[in-house]
Amino acid sequence: MIKIGIVGATGLVGREMLSVLQETTLSISELRLFATARNAGQTLNFRGLPHPIEIIQKHSWEKGMIILGATSSETACKWVPDALDAGACIIDNSSAYRMDENVPLVVPEVNPEAINPGHRLIANPNCSTIQLVMALGPLRDVSPIEWISVATYQSVSGGGREGIETLRRQEHEVPGKGHFHRNVICEIGLPEPSGYTGEEIKLIDETPKILGIDLPVFSSCARVPVMIGHTESVTVKFTERVSSEKVEQALAEAPGISVKDLGCQPVEAAGTDSVFVGRIRNHPNDDSIIQFWVTADNIRKGAALNAIQIMELLAKKLPTRHKLDR
Ligand SMILES: NC(=O)c1ccc[n+]([C@@H]2O[C@H](COP(=O)([O-])OP(=O)(O)OC[C@H]3O[C@@H](n4cnc5c(N)ncnc54)[C@H](OP(=O)(O)O)[C@@H]3O)[C@@H](O)[C@H]2O)c1
Repeated sequence: MIKIGIVGATGLVGREMLSVLQETTLSISELRLFATARNAGQTLNFRGLPHPIEIIQKHSWEKGMIILGATSSETACKWVPDALDAGACIIDNSSAYRMDENVPLVVPEVNPEAINPGHRLIANPNCSTIQLVMALGPLRDVSPIEWISVATYQSVSGGGREGIETLRRQEHEVPGKGHFHRNVICEIGLPEPSGYTGEEIKLIDETPKILGIDLPVFSSCARVPVMIGHTESVTVKFTERVSSEKVEQALAEAPGISVKDLGCQPVEAAGTDSVFVGRIRNHPNDDSIIQFWVTADNIRKGAALNAIQIMELLAKKLPTRHKLDR
Protein backbone atom coordinates (compact mmCIF):
# COMPACT_ATOMS: atom_id res chain seq x y z
CA MET A 1 0.00 0.00 0.00
CA ILE A 2 1.50 3.33 -1.08
CA LYS A 3 0.73 6.89 0.00
CA ILE A 4 1.00 9.16 -3.02
CA GLY A 5 1.03 12.94 -3.41
CA ILE A 6 0.77 14.86 -6.69
CA VAL A 7 2.14 18.41 -6.58
CA GLY A 8 0.77 20.44 -9.49
CA ALA A 9 -2.26 18.14 -9.71
CA THR A 10 -4.35 20.70 -11.61
CA GLY A 11 -1.84 21.23 -14.46
CA LEU A 12 -1.59 19.32 -17.74
CA VAL A 13 0.95 16.81 -16.41
CA GLY A 14 -0.68 16.50 -12.96
CA ARG A 15 -4.11 15.71 -14.42
CA GLU A 16 -2.58 13.14 -16.78
CA MET A 17 -0.82 11.56 -13.79
CA LEU A 18 -4.22 11.11 -12.15
CA SER A 19 -5.52 9.50 -15.32
CA VAL A 20 -2.53 7.11 -15.60
CA LEU A 21 -2.78 6.28 -11.87
CA GLN A 22 -6.40 5.19 -12.39
CA GLU A 23 -5.07 2.49 -14.73
CA THR A 24 -2.28 1.13 -12.49
CA THR A 25 -2.64 -1.94 -10.33
CA LEU A 26 -0.67 -0.28 -7.51
CA SER A 27 -2.44 -0.42 -4.14
CA ILE A 28 -2.84 3.20 -3.08
CA SER A 29 -3.74 3.77 0.58
CA GLU A 30 -3.94 7.55 0.32
CA LEU A 31 -3.77 10.12 -2.47
CA ARG A 32 -3.11 13.79 -1.72
CA LEU A 33 -3.32 16.54 -4.32
CA PHE A 34 -1.53 19.90 -4.18
CA ALA A 35 -1.82 23.10 -6.25
CA THR A 36 -1.94 26.84 -5.60
CA ALA A 37 -4.41 28.76 -3.41
CA ARG A 38 -6.36 29.44 -6.63
CA ASN A 39 -7.57 25.83 -6.59
CA ALA A 40 -7.44 25.05 -2.87
CA GLY A 41 -10.67 23.53 -1.58
CA GLN A 42 -11.77 22.30 -4.99
CA THR A 43 -11.73 18.56 -5.68
CA LEU A 44 -10.54 16.17 -8.39
CA ASN A 45 -12.02 12.71 -8.80
CA PHE A 46 -9.89 9.62 -8.43
CA ARG A 47 -11.37 6.12 -8.68
CA GLY A 48 -14.84 7.58 -8.26
CA LEU A 49 -14.11 9.62 -5.12
CA PRO A 50 -13.57 13.38 -4.81
CA HIS A 51 -10.12 14.32 -3.46
CA PRO A 52 -9.57 17.83 -2.05
CA ILE A 53 -6.83 20.05 -3.44
CA GLU A 54 -4.48 21.36 -0.75
CA ILE A 55 -1.82 24.03 -0.70
CA ILE A 56 1.67 22.99 0.38
CA GLN A 57 2.50 23.47 4.06
CA LYS A 58 5.56 22.55 6.14
CA HIS A 59 3.84 19.46 7.56
CA SER A 60 2.41 18.30 4.20
CA TRP A 61 5.01 15.55 3.74
CA GLU A 62 5.35 12.17 5.45
CA LYS A 63 8.11 9.62 5.63
CA GLY A 64 7.69 6.95 2.93
CA MET A 65 5.16 8.95 0.91
CA ILE A 66 5.87 8.98 -2.85
CA ILE A 67 5.43 12.42 -4.35
CA LEU A 68 4.99 13.01 -8.08
CA GLY A 69 6.13 16.56 -8.86
CA ALA A 70 4.50 18.44 -11.77
CA THR A 71 5.39 22.06 -11.05
CA SER A 72 7.90 24.46 -12.60
CA SER A 73 11.58 24.21 -11.63
CA GLU A 74 11.34 27.39 -9.58
CA THR A 75 8.43 25.96 -7.56
CA ALA A 76 10.10 22.53 -7.23
CA CYS A 77 13.18 24.14 -5.65
CA LYS A 78 10.92 25.47 -2.89
CA TRP A 79 9.12 22.25 -1.88
CA VAL A 80 11.46 19.38 -2.82
CA PRO A 81 14.09 20.02 -0.07
CA ASP A 82 11.37 20.05 2.65
CA ALA A 83 9.78 16.86 1.31
CA LEU A 84 13.20 15.14 1.26
CA ASP A 85 13.87 16.28 4.85
CA ALA A 86 10.55 14.74 5.89
CA GLY A 87 11.63 11.37 4.41
CA ALA A 88 9.43 11.33 1.30
CA CYS A 89 10.48 9.86 -2.10
CA ILE A 90 10.09 12.28 -5.00
CA ILE A 91 9.79 11.80 -8.75
CA ASP A 92 10.11 15.29 -10.17
CA ASN A 93 9.08 16.35 -13.67
CA SER A 94 10.76 19.74 -13.60
CA SER A 95 14.29 20.37 -14.88
CA ALA A 96 15.54 21.54 -11.46
CA TYR A 97 17.45 18.40 -10.45
CA ARG A 98 17.90 16.52 -13.75
CA MET A 99 21.61 17.20 -14.20
CA ASP A 100 22.52 16.80 -10.50
CA GLU A 101 25.05 13.95 -10.49
CA ASN A 102 23.44 12.44 -7.36
CA VAL A 103 19.98 12.35 -8.94
CA PRO A 104 19.14 9.56 -11.40
CA LEU A 105 17.44 10.69 -14.62
CA VAL A 106 15.33 7.76 -15.67
CA VAL A 107 13.37 6.28 -18.56
CA PRO A 108 12.45 2.82 -17.22
CA GLU A 109 12.78 1.04 -20.58
CA VAL A 110 16.26 2.52 -21.12
CA ASN A 111 18.16 2.87 -17.81
CA PRO A 112 16.20 1.19 -14.97
CA GLU A 113 19.53 0.28 -13.34
CA ALA A 114 20.12 3.97 -12.55
CA ILE A 115 17.72 3.71 -9.59
CA ASN A 116 18.95 2.07 -6.43
CA PRO A 117 16.97 1.55 -3.22
CA GLY A 118 18.72 4.49 -1.50
CA HIS A 119 17.48 7.07 -4.02
CA ARG A 120 14.71 9.30 -2.73
CA LEU A 121 14.82 11.93 -5.50
CA ILE A 122 14.51 10.79 -9.09
CA ALA A 123 14.21 13.15 -12.06
CA ASN A 124 11.88 12.61 -14.99
CA PRO A 125 13.60 13.75 -18.22
CA ASN A 126 12.28 16.44 -20.55
CA CYS A 127 9.47 15.29 -22.86
CA SER A 128 11.55 15.66 -26.03
CA THR A 129 14.42 13.69 -24.44
CA ILE A 130 12.20 10.79 -23.32
CA GLN A 131 10.92 9.94 -26.80
CA LEU A 132 14.42 10.39 -28.29
CA VAL A 133 16.14 8.01 -25.85
CA MET A 134 13.28 5.49 -26.17
CA ALA A 135 14.34 5.17 -29.84
CA LEU A 136 18.11 5.38 -29.21
CA GLY A 137 18.27 2.96 -26.24
CA PRO A 138 17.73 -0.20 -28.36
CA LEU A 139 20.29 1.04 -30.91
CA ARG A 140 23.15 1.09 -28.35
CA ASP A 141 23.33 -2.70 -28.70
CA VAL A 142 23.22 -2.66 -32.52
CA SER A 143 26.50 -0.79 -32.96
CA PRO A 144 28.48 2.01 -31.24
CA ILE A 145 26.92 5.44 -31.84
CA GLU A 146 29.26 8.29 -32.82
CA TRP A 147 26.87 11.23 -32.71
CA ILE A 148 23.16 12.13 -32.87
CA SER A 149 21.36 15.03 -34.50
CA VAL A 150 17.74 15.84 -33.69
CA ALA A 151 15.30 18.49 -34.95
CA THR A 152 12.08 18.76 -32.96
CA TYR A 153 8.58 19.88 -33.91
CA GLN A 154 7.03 20.37 -30.48
CA SER A 155 3.37 20.84 -29.63
CA VAL A 156 2.13 23.83 -27.66
CA SER A 157 1.10 21.62 -24.71
CA GLY A 158 4.84 21.31 -24.01
CA GLY A 159 4.41 24.78 -22.53
CA GLY A 160 1.71 23.57 -20.13
CA ARG A 161 -1.87 24.76 -19.79
CA GLU A 162 -0.82 28.23 -20.92
CA GLY A 163 0.45 26.87 -24.26
CA ILE A 164 -2.89 25.24 -25.04
CA GLU A 165 -4.87 28.30 -23.96
CA THR A 166 -2.67 30.57 -26.10
CA LEU A 167 -3.09 28.49 -29.28
CA ARG A 168 -6.89 28.23 -28.70
CA ARG A 169 -7.11 32.01 -28.30
CA GLN A 170 -4.89 32.74 -31.30
CA GLU A 171 -6.99 30.51 -33.57
CA HIS A 172 -9.48 33.41 -33.52
CA GLU A 173 -6.90 36.17 -34.03
CA VAL A 174 -5.04 37.50 -37.06
CA PRO A 175 -1.73 35.56 -37.24
CA GLY A 176 1.28 37.61 -36.14
CA LYS A 177 4.97 37.32 -35.29
CA GLY A 178 5.51 35.09 -32.27
CA HIS A 179 2.01 33.55 -32.57
CA PHE A 180 1.63 29.78 -32.30
CA HIS A 181 -1.22 29.66 -34.80
CA ARG A 182 -0.26 29.17 -38.48
CA ASN A 183 3.40 29.57 -37.56
CA VAL A 184 6.63 27.76 -36.72
CA ILE A 185 8.65 29.28 -33.89
CA CYS A 186 12.30 28.37 -34.23
CA GLU A 187 13.17 28.89 -30.59
CA ILE A 188 11.55 27.44 -27.49
CA GLY A 189 12.55 29.88 -24.77
CA LEU A 190 15.25 32.49 -25.20
CA PRO A 191 18.68 31.56 -26.61
CA GLU A 192 21.49 31.33 -24.05
CA PRO A 193 24.90 33.04 -24.70
CA SER A 194 25.93 29.92 -26.69
CA GLY A 195 23.04 30.57 -29.10
CA TYR A 196 21.27 27.36 -28.03
CA THR A 197 17.93 27.55 -26.22
CA GLY A 198 17.23 25.83 -22.90
CA GLU A 199 15.12 23.21 -24.69
CA GLU A 200 18.04 22.38 -27.02
CA ILE A 201 20.51 22.22 -24.12
CA LYS A 202 18.20 19.75 -22.33
CA LEU A 203 18.49 17.34 -25.28
CA ILE A 204 22.27 17.83 -25.43
CA ASP A 205 22.79 17.22 -21.68
CA GLU A 206 20.09 14.72 -20.75
CA THR A 207 20.53 12.27 -23.66
CA PRO A 208 24.10 11.12 -22.78
CA LYS A 209 23.23 10.95 -19.05
CA ILE A 210 20.35 8.53 -19.70
CA LEU A 211 22.08 6.47 -22.40
CA GLY A 212 25.25 6.23 -20.30
CA ILE A 213 27.34 7.17 -23.36
CA ASP A 214 29.44 10.28 -23.73
CA LEU A 215 28.43 11.44 -27.22
CA PRO A 216 27.77 14.69 -29.10
CA VAL A 217 24.11 15.62 -29.58
CA PHE A 218 23.15 18.33 -32.10
CA SER A 219 19.70 19.76 -31.43
CA SER A 220 17.31 22.30 -32.97
CA CYS A 221 13.90 22.78 -31.34
CA ALA A 222 10.82 24.42 -32.83
CA ARG A 223 7.26 25.00 -31.62
CA VAL A 224 4.54 24.07 -34.12
CA PRO A 225 0.76 24.66 -34.02
CA VAL A 226 -0.14 21.18 -32.74
CA MET A 227 -2.03 20.70 -29.45
CA ILE A 228 -0.51 17.41 -28.22
CA GLY A 229 2.36 15.25 -29.52
CA HIS A 230 5.98 16.07 -30.24
CA THR A 231 7.63 14.92 -33.48
CA GLU A 232 11.38 14.59 -34.01
CA SER A 233 13.58 14.05 -37.06
CA VAL A 234 16.55 12.01 -35.82
CA THR A 235 19.91 11.29 -37.50
CA VAL A 236 22.20 8.69 -35.92
CA LYS A 237 25.82 8.26 -37.00
CA PHE A 238 27.23 4.85 -36.12
CA THR A 239 30.94 4.00 -36.14
CA GLU A 240 30.34 1.32 -38.79
CA ARG A 241 27.84 0.31 -41.49
CA VAL A 242 24.39 -0.52 -40.10
CA SER A 243 21.43 -1.50 -42.24
CA SER A 244 18.03 0.10 -41.80
CA GLU A 245 16.58 -3.45 -41.53
CA LYS A 246 18.77 -4.16 -38.48
CA VAL A 247 17.70 -0.88 -36.85
CA GLU A 248 14.06 -1.60 -37.60
CA GLN A 249 14.32 -5.07 -36.08
CA ALA A 250 15.95 -3.73 -32.89
CA LEU A 251 13.24 -1.08 -32.53
CA ALA A 252 10.38 -3.51 -33.32
CA GLU A 253 11.55 -5.76 -30.45
CA ALA A 254 11.93 -2.87 -27.96
CA PRO A 255 9.26 -2.36 -25.25
CA GLY A 256 7.16 0.78 -25.62
CA ILE A 257 8.06 1.33 -29.31
CA SER A 258 5.71 0.95 -32.28
CA VAL A 259 7.41 0.83 -35.66
CA LYS A 260 5.51 2.33 -38.58
CA ASP A 261 6.56 2.09 -42.24
CA LEU A 262 5.57 5.68 -42.71
CA GLY A 263 5.95 8.34 -40.04
CA CYS A 264 3.34 8.58 -37.31
CA GLN A 265 1.49 11.84 -36.86
CA PRO A 266 0.84 13.58 -33.51
CA VAL A 267 -2.92 13.20 -33.99
CA GLU A 268 -2.42 9.40 -33.91
CA ALA A 269 0.07 9.49 -31.01
CA ALA A 270 -2.00 11.76 -28.73
CA GLY A 271 -3.62 9.79 -25.91
CA THR A 272 -1.50 6.66 -26.51
CA ASP A 273 1.37 5.17 -24.50
CA SER A 274 3.63 4.24 -27.43
CA VAL A 275 6.60 5.99 -28.91
CA PHE A 276 6.17 5.70 -32.68
CA VAL A 277 9.22 5.38 -34.94
CA GLY A 278 8.86 5.54 -38.72
CA ARG A 279 10.55 6.15 -42.07
CA ILE A 280 13.72 4.37 -40.95
CA ARG A 281 16.27 4.78 -43.75
CA ASN A 282 19.99 4.65 -44.51
CA HIS A 283 21.61 7.75 -45.93
CA PRO A 284 21.91 7.15 -49.70
CA ASN A 285 25.68 7.88 -49.66
CA ASP A 286 26.72 6.69 -46.18
CA ASP A 287 25.65 3.34 -44.73
CA SER A 288 26.78 4.32 -41.24
CA ILE A 289 24.06 6.99 -41.04
CA ILE A 290 20.44 6.17 -40.21
CA GLN A 291 17.54 8.63 -40.20
CA PHE A 292 14.03 8.24 -38.81
CA TRP A 293 11.09 10.10 -37.28
CA VAL A 294 9.86 9.72 -33.70
CA THR A 295 6.46 10.86 -32.40
CA ALA A 296 4.90 10.53 -28.94
CA ASP A 297 2.35 12.09 -26.61
CA ASN A 298 4.46 14.60 -24.65
CA ILE A 299 2.07 14.71 -21.69
CA ARG A 300 1.74 10.95 -21.41
CA LYS A 301 5.01 9.03 -22.16
CA GLY A 302 6.80 12.40 -22.24
CA ALA A 303 5.80 13.13 -18.64
CA ALA A 304 3.01 11.46 -16.61
CA LEU A 305 3.30 7.85 -17.79
CA ASN A 306 7.10 7.86 -17.51
CA ALA A 307 6.87 9.25 -13.95
CA ILE A 308 4.43 6.54 -12.90
CA GLN A 309 6.57 3.83 -14.51
CA ILE A 310 9.44 5.20 -12.40
CA MET A 311 7.20 4.98 -9.33
CA GLU A 312 6.38 1.34 -10.12
CA LEU A 313 10.11 0.60 -10.51
CA LEU A 314 10.89 2.41 -7.26
CA ALA A 315 8.16 0.54 -5.38
CA LYS A 316 9.78 -2.77 -6.45
CA LYS A 317 13.26 -1.63 -5.40
CA LEU A 318 12.44 -0.05 -1.99
CA PRO A 319 14.06 -1.95 0.89
CA THR A 320 11.68 -3.88 3.15
CA ARG A 321 12.53 -1.66 6.15
CA HIS A 322 11.41 1.40 4.20
CA LYS A 323 8.19 -0.36 3.25
CA LEU A 324 7.51 -1.24 6.91
CA ASP A 325 8.27 2.35 7.95
CA ARG A 326 5.17 3.38 6.11
N1 LIG B 1 3.71 19.80 -20.60
C1 LIG B 1 4.64 18.91 -20.97
O1 LIG B 1 4.64 18.37 -22.10
C2 LIG B 1 5.72 18.52 -20.00
C3 LIG B 1 6.47 17.39 -20.29
C4 LIG B 1 7.53 17.02 -19.44
C5 LIG B 1 7.77 17.78 -18.31
N2 LIG B 1 7.00 18.87 -18.03
C6 LIG B 1 7.30 19.62 -16.81
O2 LIG B 1 6.30 19.30 -15.85
C7 LIG B 1 6.04 20.43 -15.00
C8 LIG B 1 4.53 20.75 -15.06
O3 LIG B 1 4.19 21.05 -16.40
P1 LIG B 1 2.68 21.31 -16.87
O4 LIG B 1 2.75 21.29 -18.35
O5 LIG B 1 1.75 20.39 -16.18
O6 LIG B 1 2.43 22.81 -16.34
P2 LIG B 1 1.03 23.55 -16.04
O7 LIG B 1 -0.04 22.98 -16.88
O8 LIG B 1 1.32 24.99 -16.17
O9 LIG B 1 0.70 23.19 -14.50
C9 LIG B 1 1.48 23.71 -13.43
C10 LIG B 1 0.95 23.15 -12.12
O10 LIG B 1 1.78 23.63 -11.04
C11 LIG B 1 0.91 24.09 -10.01
N3 LIG B 1 1.62 25.04 -9.15
C12 LIG B 1 2.17 26.23 -9.49
N4 LIG B 1 2.72 26.82 -8.40
C13 LIG B 1 2.50 25.97 -7.34
C14 LIG B 1 2.79 26.01 -5.96
N5 LIG B 1 3.43 27.05 -5.41
N6 LIG B 1 2.40 24.97 -5.18
C15 LIG B 1 1.74 23.91 -5.71
N7 LIG B 1 1.42 23.81 -7.02
C16 LIG B 1 1.79 24.84 -7.82
C17 LIG B 1 -0.27 24.68 -10.76
O11 LIG B 1 -1.38 24.86 -9.87
P3 LIG B 1 -2.62 25.89 -10.22
O12 LIG B 1 -3.49 25.13 -11.22
O13 LIG B 1 -3.29 26.06 -8.92
O14 LIG B 1 -2.01 27.12 -10.82
C18 LIG B 1 -0.48 23.58 -11.78
O15 LIG B 1 -1.16 22.50 -11.17
C19 LIG B 1 6.94 21.56 -15.52
O16 LIG B 1 8.16 21.57 -14.80
C20 LIG B 1 7.21 21.14 -16.97
O17 LIG B 1 8.43 21.67 -17.48
C21 LIG B 1 5.97 19.23 -18.84
